[in-house]
Amino acid sequence: MSKLKILGYGHYVPETVITNDDFSLIMDTDDEWISSRTGIRERRFVIDENTSDIAFQAAVNAMKDANVSSDDIDLVIVATITPDNFTPSVACMILDKLGIKKAMAFDISAACSGYLYAINTACAILESNNLRKAIVIGAETLSKIVDFNDRSTAILFGDGAGAVVIEAKDNPVTFYANAKTDVENILYANALIGGGLLKNSTFDNYFLHMNGKEVFKFAISVFDDAINYVLEQNNITIDDVDLIIPHQANIRIIQSAAKRKGIDMDKVYINLDKYGNTSAASVAIALSEAHEKQILKKGQKILLVGFGAGLTWSSIYLEV
Ligand code: ACO
Repeated sequence: MSKLKILGYGHYVPETVITNDDFSLIMDTDDEWISSRTGIRERRFVIDENTSDIAFQAAVNAMKDANVSSDDIDLVIVATITPDNFTPSVACMILDKLGIKKAMAFDISAACSGYLYAINTACAILESNNLRKAIVIGAETLSKIVDFNDRSTAILFGDGAGAVVIEAKDNPVTFYANAKTDVENILYANALIGGGLLKNSTFDNYFLHMNGKEVFKFAISVFDDAINYVLEQNNITIDDVDLIIPHQANIRIIQSAAKRKGIDMDKVYINLDKYGNTSAASVAIALSEAHEKQILKKGQKILLVGFGAGLTWSSIYLEV
């Protein structure tokens, strides 16, 4: 069985708050429509920061919380679908600022499951290469790829970053990850960040496109699969779990999935009202915030759940 110890948590969100009322100034929408259908009341947008800037801030906060220095870090992984560039990776870009002189560093693209995929990958690399500590970051500047002419998607997304410093030791952990081709194109963006367009794409599909109803159905349908394996492996039921931190897609998805599985919503950590859907950063920010608020306590059994574009879905069960 794999081992995972979280040594420190950190997050960072840009200063600028965009409320639902702000959206009603630029498109035909209102706070009532957005908050009743999604649970989102506000989100943060970067103004002059990029993904590497906010990833760096989250990493600094996690390193402080873990009380580790840059010399202790052997691996940096950033989960993001909005990197500054195709290359260099965000992970490589922040090494210098973090003062890390010798480490393996790369990005992972698995959308809203990205942070869970990244923790899974980091743990395996630490273990198999006999490395010491990793920083795993989820960071997004989705405002770069949101179409402000599309009221059904623009209101959902936000910017932010979260991070953990981990070691592959002490606490048993169980991972699950799965994926399939998005054959019906229910969630995609062809944007080449900061540069232009991919071959065969048009300006029209530069932005994030979503078939809301199909994404809703997909998310509900994979939620069970995402968590069943890790519960079975540990011979426990959902009632044995103390805290569930799902991808903060929208409140209706989370409530519907919870109802189907008989999950008490009091055990489910929600912060999407403040940050919207931040894709790969969502579980990362929520985990760090739950730790900061002391909702997440030592010894608890926690379940992280991700689902999103790709299509991808995943879970992590861990005693912290
Ligand atoms: N304000 C006002 N009206 C709107 C808005 C808006 N922001 N957006 C859409 N509408 C309108 C539509 O135009 C439509 O009008 P019409 O009936 O005149 O054509 C009406 O509202 C209903 O539209 P629907 O798409 O049927 O709205 P629905 O009730 O299904 O809610 C939503 C849309 C919230 C996007 C829903 O489909 C949903 O929650 N989908 C899940 C998608 C999601 O959360 N994705 C997150 C990203 S993916 C991920 O993280 C896994």
